[in-house]
Amino acid sequence: SLSKLRMRIYEANREAARFFHATLLSQRGQSGLNYLRGRALSDRTIRHFGLGFADDDWNSLCNHLKNKGFSEYEIYSANLAFKRKNGNGIYDRFVNRVMFPIIDLRGNVIAFGGRIMTDEKPKYLNTSDTPVFKKSENLFSLNNAKSSGTRTLILCEGYMDVIALNQAGFTNAVATLGTALTNEQAVLMKRYADEVIICYDADGAGQKATARAIDILRNAGLPIKILTVPSGKDPDEFIRSKGDNGPAAFKLLIEKCGNDIEYRLMKLKENYNLNTTDGKVAFLNEAVKIVATIESPIERDVFASKLCAELEIDKNAFLEQISKVKRRDR
Ligand code: GTP
Ligand code: MN
Ligand code: MN
Ligand code: MN
Ligand code: MN
Repeated sequence: SLSKLRMRIYEANREAARFFHATLLSQRGQSGLNYLRGRALSDRTIRHFGLGFADDDWNSLCNHLKNKGFSEYEIYSANLAFKRKNGNGIYDRFVNRVMFPIIDLRGNVIAFGGRIMTDEKPKYLNTSDTPVFKKSENLFSLNNAKSSGTRTLILCEGYMDVIALNQAGFTNAVATLGTALTNEQAVLMKRYADEVIICYDADGAGQKATARAIDILRNAGLPIKILTVPSGKDPDEFIRSKGDNGPAAFKLLIEKCGNDIEYRLMKLKENYNLNTTDGKVAFLNEAVKIVATIESPIERDVFASKLCAELEIDKNAFLEQISKVKRRDR
């Protein structure tokens, strides 16, 4: 039955996680352990996240699981193996990769992400959807974040961002699993958070994904802040770098970061030359549309005042324009 199969998949995943972790700490896992240490992870962090290593033998996990009594059907259903194209049998799905177990809120191992240690593709190989795992409905490390003692979640792009933040004390970090944020994930977050800080990569792809995440989280009714690391590609690189960065600097960024309106206005500003009259007018015409989306009249007024003071224009004119936009959108 399906529920019996689901039980067996949970058990196979747990056994696989144990096997990968034991391999990492053995002779065969040395390259993996060196890789993780090279990325500044402590042994404590490696243990806390149950990180592991899939060796370069195409049968080691399958053989191990078979010895533990799992059938080929169960191993394949857990997406821990591929079926052979010609002939019978299965072989390991994860080979020569550092392994990140994905654990649900009840502590079950539901899936894995595996990172290759070279620049081969794909960089990350994840478990496909199985009877116990839908990647669009889960978040990496939500199990840790829910007991972080805050109702703020830091939403990142990647496993390594979450783990690096965790090691630096930010245990409320979570990540999507290699896909764009979904409505289901936003609803899930809402159960554990009153506020989400989006902390995606500073590159173009990350900023595009931020715009989409803003819409989805807003629709879910979650207050949002946006943190973009000023140097380094992503939170992991930022927190690891020396000098002015590191955990203390990240704490300051959290305290300083603005909400989605501030973020959108800042991004908009980058497209205009505010030293020219034309640039100023064009910017303001678009800025009005953003400010008009604010529900709270008080918050709307705060932004209007700020913008008008900054650009040295008459606030009444700005407010009038907002009314026009709102009338038109009705
Ligand atoms: P590192 O290079 O290990 O620091 O990873 P990263 O998290 O910085 O990777 P990147 O910013 O390139 O991508 C963000 C996230 O997208 C990753 O953590 C993965 O979840 C996912 N991702 C990246 N590359 C791949 C890929 O080749 N396949 C899949 N399925 N997901 C990927
Ligand atoms: Mn293997
Ligand atoms: Mn990226
Ligand atoms: Mn990274
Ligand atoms: Mn990244």
